[in-house]
Amino acid sequence: MDYSQLVSQLDAVTDGVENNISNLANAAALLYRGLEDVSWAGFYIADGNTLALGPFQGKIACTSIAKGRGVCGAAFETGKTAVVTNVHEFEGHIACDAESNSEIVVPLFKGGEVFGVMDIDSTSYARFDDCDREGLERFARLLESRLI
Ligand code: SME
Repeated sequence: MDYSQLVSQLDAVTDGVENNISNLANAAALLYRGLEDVSWAGFYIADGNTLALGPFQGKIACTSIAKGRGVCGAAFETGKTAVVTNVHEFEGHIACDAESNSEIVVPLFKGGEVFGVMDIDSTSYARFDDCDREGLERFARLLESRLI
């Protein structure tokens, strides 16, 4: 997967837009429509020690995730990308969608703190590899730079 096009599209669609909801909403749509074999793509935003559901595409999801809980809460706590090849083997995984089998969660930073996380799910096992991690982290770095 070549992420250059997706990153360029994010650049174009967020350029000059000073609204976090608008930028996160378009980023979620780009990920959901631009990546193959993805069942959910979106954001959880940090609110104290909790993550609150933000803009996303896909089925309805849990609205609140505590720090350290599930894949999103782990990425929130560690500040590191989590690539989970089989979510059923991940201790504490939160099954918003019973059909989800693998997941990647990339933390977003603002001012040295975790602003929130970018979460992408797939019904395929091991959907996300190091290439996806690298591409999605580039996508996340650009998105962070557009957050106010
Ligand atoms: N599975 C996630 C919860 C969020 S949904 O996948 C949208 C987790 O374990 O953090």
